[in-house]
Amino acid sequence: MDTDLIKVVNKLQETFSAVGGDQVDLPQCVVVGSQSSGKSSVLETIVGKDFLPRGNGIVTRRPLVLQLVHTPVGTTMPRTTSLENTQDRQPTYTEYGEFLHLDKRFTDFDEVKREIENETFRVAGQNKGVSKLPIHLKIFSPHVLNLTLVDLPGLTKIPVGDQPTDIERQIHSLVTSYISKPNCIIIAVSPANVDLANSDSLKLARAIDPQGRRTIGVLTKLDLMDNGTHALDILTGRVYPLKLGFIGVVNRSQQDINGNKSMLAARKAEEDFFSNHPAYRNIAHRCGTKYLAKTLNQVLLAHIKDRLPDMKARLQTLMTQTQQELASFGDTALMGETHRGSLVLKLMTQFARDFVNSIDGKTLEAST
Ligand code: GDP
Ligand code: NA
Ligand code: MG
Repeated sequence: MDTDLIKVVNKLQETFSAVGGDQVDLPQCVVVGSQSSGKSSVLETIVGKDFLPRGNGIVTRRPLVLQLVHTPVGTTMPRTTSLENTQDRQPTYTEYGEFLHLDKRFTDFDEVKREIENETFRVAGQNKGVSKLPIHLKIFSPHVLNLTLVDLPGLTKIPVGDQPTDIERQIHSLVTSYISKPNCIIIAVSPANVDLANSDSLKLARAIDPQGRRTIGVLTKLDLMDNGTHALDILTGRVYPLKLGFIGVVNRSQQDINGNKSMLAARKAEEDFFSNHPAYRNIAHRCGTKYLAKTLNQVLLAHIKDRLPDMKARLQTLMTQTQQELASFGDTALMGETHRGSLVLKLMTQFARDFVNSIDGKTLEAST
């Protein structure tokens, strides 16, 4: 993720919470697509960590609301530090996960995956049932932007296992409830080995976002297309119009997952795929997971820029209020609690003012 953007956005959020305002209303990114189209795989590569259950068939059976929380490097430690080990150099865990339903800090991302599976079984049962009750997971890391990503069960038509007869309608309404929020960026996933005309994600995205303003098309499984066929026309926007365009990716195959292929190796293989492919060679710089993450960053940045005038106005109002409050204390109240309170307010005001100046266009332009 773009470091400048991380800094700007995180400072923005800090300022707002410091002055008691709302959190910056950042967009949520929600993945939509048919079952096994590669939604969880795409999310995982955006985060850059291997922690989501994936596989053929219905694996994601509850919404996963994944809140990425930016933490400065080296500030987080494991909660339990054994006393006997204090002689040894303690590892500093800068990345960890926490679930809302559990008071535990996970530094092992394999364990995070197992916990998602267990929680899914606990609420949605053993037999392919789907629940709309979300699992909330926070990931703390110095490498992420404060951002919420939502993984959803895939769109499906035919009930299996314990699924009710109206499973199609239920998942449809679940997905719709997430992507209807005007602030939501829809990551519409379609597998490249299925005709785009049959793409459930695009059908649904178009119904909610008819102009295609906040929908990013992601084409997965480009490596699984029939020999001699390719998706260049889709990727260059000649087949289906989306303002934010289509991005092709190659995620890990089931075989890669079973063989524990690392994320790094998968990224490298993906890069090689695009730069060596006769059809994609010339657009290789606009393909792949890295480019997708970068594009999402730009979409977020554009969104923040749009909202900047409004955020500045809100900060100004808060500052004016604070100043009036300070003035009303006069000189007589410069003692005790009131004084301390006013001092805090003053510091916050200064912080907010510096911040408004610092983001006056310059910083944001520089980080694009
Ligand atoms: P979801 O059901 O939409 O969340 O899809 P998953 O991410 O669970 O992926 C379903 C299956 O497709 C898994 O076995 C993945 O390994 C596989 N898969 C996903 N994306 C790709 C891809 O780009 N290429 C290949 N070969 N397999 C993929
Ligand atoms: Na799946
Ligand atoms: Mg999934």
